[in-house]
Amino acid sequence: MEKPHAPMPGAEALAEPLRSRWSPSIFDDEHRLTREQVETLLHAAQWAPSWGNSQPWAFVVAERGSAAHQVLVRHLTRGNSGWVPRASVVLVTAAQVGPGPDGERWRGADYALHDLGQAAAHLTLQARAMDLHAHQFAGFDHEAVHDALGVPAWYRVMTGIAVGRRGKPDDVPERDREREQRERHRRPLADFVWGDVWGDPWTTA
Ligand SMILES: Cc1cc2nc3c(=O)[nH]c(=O)nc-3n(C[C@H](O)[C@H](O)[C@H](O)COP(=O)(O)O)c2cc1C
Repeated sequence: MEKPHAPMPGAEALAEPLRSRWSPSIFDDEHRLTREQVETLLHAAQWAPSWGNSQPWAFVVAERGSAAHQVLVRHLTRGNSGWVPRASVVLVTAAQVGPGPDGERWRGADYALHDLGQAAAHLTLQARAMDLHAHQFAGFDHEAVHDALGVPAWYRVMTGIAVGRRGKPDDVPERDREREQRERHRRPLADFVWGDVWGDPWTTA
């Protein structure tokens, strides 16, 4: 059963693919992405804006069955170990947070996490536009994955983005089915949007 994608007032006005994006936990473990599809997802990240065009992001492509995928799966938290391995591909994201071996000051460091997050958002939305689903996650042993994938010390491993096609609820354990049924909700704008000064309500009038 599909979830209501715009469960709160206002969300129905969002453009696609923002409106129909959500994070499913039931992936079809027989579905594979073509190389071109994976490349298109990565191009979406590549064309994200970044501070000074510093592009401080990197991705490890962990397709189901690959060596990188086996590494990641070994280090998932229990809560993620059921659903993540079923996705067609996981993009492990990393941000350059320090200078590389040339020793030059890394000018993008201040905004590296912001910029990686934005690239991840672009990739996630591109997936939706390709009739796929993406679910970002941070529940894995970052240090172990960093080391096992040979990520340089000046990069910080941040998240995984699981991408694939939705699977059948009957194919997954109850826990993952239940996860999908959780109500999606958000804090109201009045909680985090301010007018003339912080704390003053912003009004549309
Ligand atoms: C940085 C980050 C880390 C996350 N970590 C996990 C995770 O470890 N496991 C999980 O099931 N979902 C994880 N999520 C997904 C969020 O729980 C989800 O995006 C949030 O509940 C909102 O739901 P929606 O994406 O369907 O709108 C993560 C999302 C982000 C952005």
